[in-house]
Amino acid sequence: MGKNSSLFRKKTVDQILRDANASDGGLAKILGVRDLVSLGIAAIVGAGIFSTIGLASYNGGPAVSLLFVFTAIACVFTALSYAQFASTVPVSGSAYTYAYVAFGELFAWIIGWALILEYAVSNMVVAISWSEYFVSMLKGFGITLPGWLTMNQESAHEAFEKLQQSGAGALSSYELFAAQTYQSAPRIGDLAVILNLPAGLITLLITALVYIGIRESRTASNIMVVLKITVVLLVIFAGAFYVKPENWSPFAPNGVPGVLSGVAAVFFAFIGFDSISTTAEECRDPQRDMPKAMIYCLVICTILYVLITLVLTGMVNYKELNVSDPLAFVFQKNGLDFMAGVISVSSVIAITSALLVYQLGQPRIWMTMSRDGLLWKRFAKIHPKYHTPSFATIVTGFVVGIPALFFKMDFFVDLTSVGTFFAFILVCGGVLYLDHKGISANSKFKVPYINGKYLVGLLFVLSIAGIILYGQDTIAEWRALSLAEIMEHKLLTIVFWITWAVLTVLSYRHNFSSLPVAGILTNLYLMTELGASNWLIFVIWLAIGLVIYFSYGYRRSKLA
Ligand code: ALA
Repeated sequence: MGKNSSLFRKKTVDQILRDANASDGGLAKILGVRDLVSLGIAAIVGAGIFSTIGLASYNGGPAVSLLFVFTAIACVFTALSYAQFASTVPVSGSAYTYAYVAFGELFAWIIGWALILEYAVSNMVVAISWSEYFVSMLKGFGITLPGWLTMNQESAHEAFEKLQQSGAGALSSYELFAAQTYQSAPRIGDLAVILNLPAGLITLLITALVYIGIRESRTASNIMVVLKITVVLLVIFAGAFYVKPENWSPFAPNGVPGVLSGVAAVFFAFIGFDSISTTAEECRDPQRDMPKAMIYCLVICTILYVLITLVLTGMVNYKELNVSDPLAFVFQKNGLDFMAGVISVSSVIAITSALLVYQLGQPRIWMTMSRDGLLWKRFAKIHPKYHTPSFATIVTGFVVGIPALFFKMDFFVDLTSVGTFFAFILVCGGVLYLDHKGISANSKFKVPYINGKYLVGLLFVLSIAGIILYGQDTIAEWRALSLAEIMEHKLLTIVFWITWAVLTVLSYRHNFSSLPVAGILTNLYLMTELGASNWLIFVIWLAIGLVIYFSYGYRRSKLA
């Protein structure tokens, strides 16, 4: 086997189905649409809507509600692609397995590596979010933990600097508290000791639960989902009475750039709908139910998210929303301490369930990769008594818990979003490949086919024409930049347009299906909004992954 062919060695669909039957074929096929929607919402509704929406609204104002709609559309294209894969390869490996079929081992590894960002890194955000609500809940009961045990060094330091530069008047109430914490924290030498203890402890606790084998049973998941939706509806309906419409104007105080700076946070809130594809082996009729369930999840969440954004930005001025517990905060701010308390308590429980979902998911992805020989054998080790991937679970605990103790949430939100966009783009691209090779010819579900032969190019030309006719500001902005500056600030935009041009040609040649192409382009566009520094970190992340692959998986792979 030549070097190239072995780098891109693929699993065939038959082979994957055989492997799945050999390893744990006896999974009960019990899940229907309702269960899948419930599982999806369990994974989707978490830190995004409970926390990161705060910062997004702070930057973008009420108009962030529209960003939720646009992002949801990108997710719908992706969900259809996931559904086609789940229908072609109905086994539980998610995007990792799909990439093994479509693009071969190297890409499978890359996706598996990127999924760590979607599962483990996103859970750092969820743990930090949990901690915010936990602290605010304790406050409701009259217990105040010392600030230095409940936040991170960077936020506190930033707030302190802002205080020095702009004075107390420019700080929100939370920033003021953070600045004071920085001043009063215990010190080791010059270093202020500040750590988020609750975030670390909850991760430890959940990891312990997952280790001894708590399983997402249908009933437990259904109950937690009902609770989550109740909290969200409570905020929407109770909050609606306190909305002051004047807070909605200006609707987009920082313009389009302000709104788009919330892309990572908003996208983060949708992540998780893809995770239901991992249950394909346990579905009664995955081909019929999977696509329905994903779309229902997305529609439900979009409606809830848009309403919540309007309520939050209507209840207080958007400038107040730079907090990590906005749902409770807005009620407190309106003098409704009791409601704030109720929301904190229920949020703590609701967020715990999100934490559980990803803490369960990550070790299982590692287990699959290890079974394929791409990770050390220990990652597939099953505990003799608890029947869980014990080693992988412990590693997940450390990987999530330690950073959650020390770092700021925003950084992880960006990193999760970059990695997940990347995985989504590959899944959409994978569908084009499946269609092209006729691999999913017999699949019961396929992304509805709209011929992209001319459409992709037509839209490309129309977009360029639109910019030339109506985008004077954009053109002037580009004109003012030197070549070096263009490379520095606009590289990602150039990547986006080149990709579109290439897809135009390929669509013309191969009659590509338009919706997966739209999925690639919308996800890529949103990804370009994440900023170069995030891409850079992501590239470094990939490079580390490749080093591991070539020093281990490449030689040890079962397919080798
Ligand atoms: N969508 C998930 C959350 O918001 C990741 O927590």
